[in-house]
Amino acid sequence: MSGKASACAKTILFGEHAVVYDEPAIAIPLTNTRTFAEIKPGSHPFRIVSEKIGLNKTYEELIPGSGLQVLLSLISENFGLDELPDAVLTISSNIPIASGLGSGAAVSVAVIRAFADFYGRELSADEVNAMAYEVEKVYHGTPSGIDNTTIAYEQAILFSRSKGISALDADISRLNLLVIDSGIRSRTIDVVSDVRAHIDRNEPYIREIGGLVRAAVKSLKSRAPAEIGRLMNENQELLRKIDVSCSELDEWIRLGLSHGAIGGKLTGAGRGGNFLILAKDYEQALRLKSLYEVLGRKVIL
Ligand code: MEV
Repeated sequence: MSGKASACAKTILFGEHAVVYDEPAIAIPLTNTRTFAEIKPGSHPFRIVSEKIGLNKTYEELIPGSGLQVLLSLISENFGLDELPDAVLTISSNIPIASGLGSGAAVSVAVIRAFADFYGRELSADEVNAMAYEVEKVYHGTPSGIDNTTIAYEQAILFSRSKGISALDADISRLNLLVIDSGIRSRTIDVVSDVRAHIDRNEPYIREIGGLVRAAVKSLKSRAPAEIGRLMNENQELLRKIDVSCSELDEWIRLGLSHGAIGGKLTGAGRGGNFLILAKDYEQALRLKSLYEVLGRKVIL
């Protein structure tokens, strides 16, 4: 008996941070960038191994209250397990950590589904999502739920805290979008709590971001790339105003725009992590990809 599953990364096209305050946001799955979880029998007690983060521990050795410890205890509770199986859980990933692509939520979703596979259980996306959300609270403090939702359903979504998922009637895969790693790591929990600490000053910008997301939904439906690019630039300006960008992100985005890109913004919590560049067509996207790669950036097309 063994169990295997994977989960994708996500990127937020519009509306990060404002979504914490119940404004809508648009997010898309990055299906080629994934976390893998595999459970193989043969270890007593249960052991968790992740080479990427140098982890090789039994459940008892995990820090109480850490994301993985909470995840495994939630799984035990939900699956009605008296104890974890005599097995090794191996987690591997090509999603960069602390970089705005939902690496924490992807670990949760992949591990929950690997357990479901191991025990031959059918779990709905709703059930997986609800469990992953509990773990997001450990990682992010006050998560909106957009990361776990995009990843659990693996589809482009329009999301708000109070309404959950609404249908997004747009083919986002047609956008010539680059997702580029600034190489700077930042902790979502810190950035989100800084925004909250200055909420009086930030509130008007948060509401403006909400309005902009509603406009973006219309532009995505009518497939108006120039308008989508303009809205991305406006969204970035508002994210700068709530102080979640940084000089390096601003510089990297400016570089793309100065080479003809039609839009650019950070994605996720900001202060580092990944940013998005919208090219006007596929050829320009390839040229911009090479430009960033020559400068040492890692690009997901
Ligand atoms: C993080 O990917 C997105 C934020 O809006 C936080 C959240 O929604 O929980 C910054």
